[in-house]
Parts: sequence; structure tokens; C-alpha cells
Amino acid sequence: MGFFSNKSILITGGTGSLGKALTSHFFKNYPDIKRLVIFSRDEQKQFQMDQEYPVDKYPQIRFFVGDVRDKERLTRAMKGIDYVIHAAAMKHVHIAEYNPDECVKTNIMGAQNVIDACLNSNVQRVVALSTDKAAAPINLYGATKLASDKLFVAANNITGWNPIKFSVVRYGNVMGSNGSVIPFFLSKKNSGTLPITDSNMTRFNISLQGGVDLVMHALEHAWGGEIFVPKIPSYRILDVAEAVAPECEKKIVGIRPGEKIHEEMITSSDSYYTYDLGKYYTILPSTSKWKLEDFVTAFKAKKVPVGFKYNSGENTEWETVDGLRKLIKNHVDLSFDI
Ligand SMILES: NC(=O)c1ccc[n+]([C@@H]2O[C@H](COP(=O)([O-])OP(=O)(O)OC[C@H]3O[C@@H](n4cnc5c(N)ncnc54)[C@H](OP(=O)(O)O)[C@@H]3O)[C@@H](O)[C@H]2O)c1
Repeated sequence: MGFFSNKSILITGGTGSLGKALTSHFFKNYPDIKRLVIFSRDEQKQFQMDQEYPVDKYPQIRFFVGDVRDKERLTRAMKGIDYVIHAAAMKHVHIAEYNPDECVKTNIMGAQNVIDACLNSNVQRVVALSTDKAAAPINLYGATKLASDKLFVAANNITGWNPIKFSVVRYGNVMGSNGSVIPFFLSKKNSGTLPITDSNMTRFNISLQGGVDLVMHALEHAWGGEIFVPKIPSYRILDVAEAVAPECEKKIVGIRPGEKIHEEMITSSDSYYTYDLGKYYTILPSTSKWKLEDFVTAFKAKKVPVGFKYNSGENTEWETVDGLRKLIKNHVDLSFDI
């Protein structure tokens, strides 16, 4: 019996970029799951996804209209669920700056509701999605995701007899995800001008599949309280513009409210709790139900040096313009001309 055999999985934000990639991954690789519940607000997005996954071909799929702000609805949805992936969020930095209370309600109150609903049912594993913007936040989106991370990590302290495990995965820009820079540049390509916020700007880059793999790793292997961080390359925003449309003028428009020039996934203050697991880093909780020595032995984990930080501007691995072109064709737009 595999880890996912006959298990019921719920994805909050299941109609989003990551939710859809996870859905496709589950049906391709784990056809023996019992149920896959998509939980989100907009019936139209669910209707469209329902066309892609008709119930006669995918009898395990269920669509639940609901808001993570509504604990009662979440609690009902969690009945019979084994594993939860919490991907629902407000994620646009400038929109969160302008509507801070809305972002707090979804990203923080929603996170606590997910935790409470899981604790009140028989859920065994919960993985919450975080972002590099949560590491040393300067914008409200990052601050709400940091609060959410803290809630999920600390949830392991209030489980009592319940064997449930909560963990977090944290990564950078997902190539081609809703509202991200590559589709934005592609949409502007024919105008002859690409707006660049700052010519020094860098970001961590991960594919949707890379994000899916990290979630699957955390679901299966977390001991509770870890924040998993993948080792991924960075890109310069100017290189992305060059890869998408070398013919376009690059017009510097200035950074938007709440934006940083570089992103940080692990700060030097986190280095005291950070371990290298080979493919991933993990920031460990300050208190846990398991012993650090056992964790280190089980995962051959190596402590990073004190002062270590993982910053997109100081990365040792970089995407090149040519490499980006291939990635865009493979992961974002099949018709992209390289
Ligand atoms: N994309 C990235 O570059 C990136 C990078 C790092 C981390 N992340 C994190 O990864 C997660 C998923 O991101 P994504 O790119 O898949 O986002 P996305 O495409 O914008 O999808 C967000 C999903 O959440 C749902 N949602 C939003 N508010 C909700 C609410 N109040 N209650 C229930 N569902 C709600 C949306 O559907 P409805 O609107 O219909 O409710 C949608 O299904 C987020 O937590 C984000 O912070 C993303």
C-alpha cells in the first residue's frame, strides 16, 4: 500500500495554479486515491475545472464551494479527509497593500480556520504553502504568510493525543503561475515595450512541477513543524525580459508598493535552526515532539553555518537568457518561439 493509496486529500485553493498542477499530478501518479476535494470560492473556476475532470472519468474528484474564512464550512469539508494541502491565499503584493484587512482575513484567519478544522477531524497531514516574501517581510502579503507559517508550525504543539502533523513549504516565483511575470511579459510582447520595475531586481525561480514535488515531499516525510525550502536558481528580471522579447524596449517604471529588489528564503537569523537535507533546506521549529538527534540521523541532515542566508541576489545558481527561453517554451507557452 502506497502512502496515498485509498486516501482522501483536500486542496484549499484547488482551482489555482498550484492546485491544478497538484490535481493533475495526483491523477497521473496516484490513481488509487479515494477522494480529491477541491475547496475554493468561485463556482465558475470550479465549473471549468469540472469540464477538465468529468466525474465519469475521475470519480474521486469533488468540488466544494467555500471560503477559508468560514470555519464551519471548512470543518464540514474536512470530514473523512486524510491529507490537506493549504494553497488558498491572497497573493498579489500591491493588492494586499491596498486591502490589508482582506488579506489578513484570508491569509491569517483562514490559516487558523484550516488548522482548527483539521484538529477537529481525522486529518493526519497538513502542508501549508508559504513564500520567500514571508522570510523577512516588508509587505503585508509577506507578513500575513509569516503569521500563517507561525500558526502552522505552532499547531504541532496543540495536537494533544492527535498524531496529525503540520508542515510548511516555502518557495519563490512559480514560473507561469496566475499573475506572474512571464505571462505578463508575454502579454506585453506585441506592444513593443516591457515595463521593468528595477534593473537590479532578482527572483528565485521554480516550476509548477518543482512546487508540486516539494509539497509531495513534505506530505510524506514531514515530522511536524518543518519549513521546507527547495534549492532553486535565481533569475535577473532583465534576463527574463530579454528572453521573452529581445526586440522590445525595456522601460524602467520603478518598484511597486511593498516590492523588494531581492527576495530572501532563509535569513541569517534563521540559520541557527536551518539544516541542509541535500535537495532541500529545512528550518526546524524551536520546540518539537521529536528529538533533533533522531531527525539529523534519519535525514542525514547537516546544520548550515551560523550566518548562512539564502537570498535571490546572492544565489550561486542562475538561469541564463537561453535557459529561460527553453523553460518558457516547456513550462509556460508551447507556442513560444525559441
Ligand atoms: N504563484 C507563486 O509564484 C507563488 C510563490 C510562492 C508561494 N505561493 C503560494 O502558493 C499558494 C498557491 O498559489 P497559486 O499561484 O496557486 O495561487 P492562485 O493561482 O492565485 O490560486 C489561489 C487559489 O486560492 C483560492 N482562494 C483565494 N481566496 C480564497 C478563500 N478566501 N477561500 C478559499 N479559496 C480561496 C482561489 O480560488 P477562488 O478565488 O475561487 O476562491 C484559487 O483557487 C498561495 O498560498 C501562494 O501564497 C505562490
